[in-house]
Amino acid sequence: MIPSETALQESTHDHEAAFRLIELTYDETLRALGAALDLRDTETAGHSERVTRYSLQIARAMNYSSEELTQLARGAYLHDIGKIGIPDSILRKEGPLSPEEVEIMQTHVQIGYELVKQIAFLAPAAEIILAHHERYDGSGYPRGLRGDAIPLGARVFAVADSLDAMTSDRPYRRARAFDAARDEIERETGRQFDPAVVKAFLFIPDYAMRGSVLRERRRSARLPLRTLVNCRTRNDEFLSTTWDLSETGISFTSRHRVDIGQEVELEFSLPPASNRLRARAKVARRELPDRLAAQFVAISPPDRQTIRHYIAERIRL
Ligand SMILES: [Fe+2]
Ligand SMILES: [Fe+2]
Repeated sequence: MIPSETALQESTHDHEAAFRLIELTYDETLRALGAALDLRDTETAGHSERVTRYSLQIARAMNYSSEELTQLARGAYLHDIGKIGIPDSILRKEGPLSPEEVEIMQTHVQIGYELVKQIAFLAPAAEIILAHHERYDGSGYPRGLRGDAIPLGARVFAVADSLDAMTSDRPYRRARAFDAARDEIERETGRQFDPAVVKAFLFIPDYAMRGSVLRERRRSARLPLRTLVNCRTRNDEFLSTTWDLSETGISFTSRHRVDIGQEVELEFSLPPASNRLRARAKVARRELPDRLAAQFVAISPPDRQTIRHYIAERIRL
């Protein structure tokens, strides 16, 4: 059955509403928690947002109430928050972890649970955090829960999480095609995943699910970009090199001369095209000793369109 255009718009509207709710209602608490983790683990920034949206989309197909959607959204958004308690030597290690390191890494579920359950409005979400690595067949952690003993939100989350893992680029491999990811989820029915959740996932029209994965990937993509950028502050002007580009910002090299929170006028082009794009951006954080990440605050609609286009051409499924 293919839902009508309006039905789809309505359901998209509901996801948006639920998502805005987590963004707005408890905005500051959630964002402060999320930001704490982003500082430690830049990989998770886009991931948390994408799995939240996929979780909501699947839960909608299961007729979740809006209260349940809200709790699920919070749990999904904060699922890996416990990683703030994992040492950098493990969290940022390149290459495989030793068995001891794996054990330490796995404690992120309890650390997250202990942290979040103390915040009253997040208590139900804490249960999802604790159970987000359980598997339907009982082979997950930390408790090895099986079947319905796993909170439903965590069972929904598990499908969303692995959909995102498979359709995202990782340092060691490229993203897989959407079809391959969907087939893999179907194969894991009753093993990793709850059959009822997989059924709901497969019930979502292909074009709708594929469309949102593509949209999310574009929205959170950071594409490597090595080009010159002219940076102008109120009393300084210098030339720098960019590192990567997203729809919402750009990162560039600078050891000094710019402070966090400062606004800069940027001018750069997207090779091979040579026309100059201009944007005003606010320096959001220092990602490496010599690398700054800035968020666009003012950019003309045509220049924004050019950036969207540039990214869309390079992100496919
Ligand atoms: Fe996790
Ligand atoms: Fe995750």
